[in-house]
Amino acid sequence: MRKIQVAELKAGMILAKDVYNHEDGRLLLLKGFSMQQRFIDKLNSLGILYVFVDEEAPLAVVEERNDAEIYNEAFSTMKDVLTTVTEGGALQLDPVKDTVDDIVSKVINHESVFTQIAGMKDIDNYTFHHCVDVCVFSVITGKSIGLSVEDLTELGIGAILHDIGKCKVPLEVLNKPGKLTDEEFMTMKLHSIYGFEIIKNTPGLSNKIANIACQHHEKWNGSGYPSGLRETQIDTLARIVAISDVFDALTADRCYKKKSLPHEAAEFVIANAGIMFDPDLAKIFVKNITIYPEGTMVILNSGEIGSVIESDHLGEMGLKPKIKIISRKAGPPVFEPYIIDLVASPDLHIVDIINNI
Ligand SMILES: [Fe+2]
Repeated sequence: MRKIQVAELKAGMILAKDVYNHEDGRLLLLKGFSMQQRFIDKLNSLGILYVFVDEEAPLAVVEERNDAEIYNEAFSTMKDVLTTVTEGGALQLDPVKDTVDDIVSKVINHESVFTQIAGMKDIDNYTFHHCVDVCVFSVITGKSIGLSVEDLTELGIGAILHDIGKCKVPLEVLNKPGKLTDEEFMTMKLHSIYGFEIIKNTPGLSNKIANIACQHHEKWNGSGYPSGLRETQIDTLARIVAISDVFDALTADRCYKKKSLPHEAAEFVIANAGIMFDPDLAKIFVKNITIYPEGTMVILNSGEIGSVIESDHLGEMGLKPKIKIISRKAGPPVFEPYIIDLVASPDLHIVDIINNI
């Protein structure tokens, strides 16, 4: 291990120690990370002078997988893992851990990640997209409250496995379109206990992870299940997963309901802060996920169609971004694109997203 100036850093060098931002103590880059030029630039811009690199390690080939590749790998892994458990097989831990490590590392080492996941859902594979999405949203939220890497990893594993107990719920209940009878609902609710048991019986998974599966339907006001826990009786990690779970479920098309738009789901989360959700975590969640990532194609209530060009995740603009209008559903064509700022246009709002994936 050698301490070197950031000015001497080269792409491909391997960090021998985690790098923190001196200003706010946040973890910026993980030990073992292979440096890339844009991160060297970032460290320079933050005024970080020294880092520790691993002298023994050969320069790594800098081959960064993009968000879509990591997301798609996570999706396939979870499809295999959940299918195996549904068919009575054991929970395969290594692929789950590798997947969560990829997601945690990506979230820690990058400022803006997985911004297009809302566009990647497809209705037939909801379950597998959902567990990956809940993992991503939870890890982003966990990072923003300053959780350690160890806690982020536990959170990520608990989040990706939060509904594993559904593998034991009969398919006719799980996939029933329309409202469940009281008896079916009782059966469905057992999935949190089944999940707890599956995780408890898998060597290498902690109680904390089992509790995430057990408590992800508990509510801040005590009206959730299975135990009716309230407020801080519910584990912090389970409170984070509860928000991610509802937000993602609302934004998905299901066989029995049409999806909510991301800003509607975010408003639902805020409206239920202190009721369903931990009020502080609900606000942190909405501030830290990107509701409308740049590049998202949207339709406005005016029929105008355009692409999000400016959005933030820390204010009103997250819910009401700036949009470059390029077309209309009806009426005269748009020859000259123009920009609409939804913050300054109270009569306009997004009514749909056009999935381009
Ligand atoms: Fe669930």
